[in-house]
Amino acid sequence: MDYQLATLGLQLPTDPRWVNIAEMNIEEILVDHAYCEQKAASSCISMIVQYPDYEKLVQILTPVVAEEWSHFERVLEQLDQRGYKLGKPRKDQYVVELLKHIRKGVGKEQKLLDQLLVNALIEARSCERFKLLWQNIEDQKLSKFYYELMVSEAGHYRNFLDLAKEYLSEEQVDQRWEEILKIEADIIRNLEVRGDRMH
Ligand SMILES: [Fe+2]
Ligand SMILES: [Fe+2]
Repeated sequence: MDYQLATLGLQLPTDPRWVNIAEMNIEEILVDHAYCEQKAASSCISMIVQYPDYEKLVQILTPVVAEEWSHFERVLEQLDQRGYKLGKPRKDQYVVELLKHIRKGVGKEQKLLDQLLVNALIEARSCERFKLLWQNIEDQKLSKFYYELMVSEAGHYRNFLDLAKEYLSEEQVDQRWEEILKIEADIIRNLEVRGDRMH
């Protein structure tokens, strides 16, 4: 799989200034990133709890929980190696804005669709950012670390999209995916570029 913007579906590239300011704030980036991994794990757990009778979902997302948790552990190691502490979670405006677009008062399957697509999108954007970090930062160990995470998150992105197509028609998925991609591009456009946040 390649990791181009177009392949991931993203409509707006990350501001090119982001990776440079992120590199100068690597402690903040690592702390924020650690919590992103933790939230990714808990989001999968919460979907398994909400949809226990969706066997394929349980089967696909259970190993993803373990992978996200191992990413969390690996970010903790990176913090530790640099003498940094985890600290408190930061407000994740990007995810807060995206979650507002999970529709309420719709059928169970429609809500599931939104949840899967929002998760796919967060994976896609993370993948894009890891690619920027991999290709641009000087610290070779960290660069390699981000390369590995980029590959892993790209796999999760596919998992969520494949699951959406498991439970809904191709047309339903494609139509909502286009809407959500536009919403995400607007969110990115309106968010301040901050070098202390993954998103
Ligand atoms: Fe992850
Ligand atoms: Fe992931």
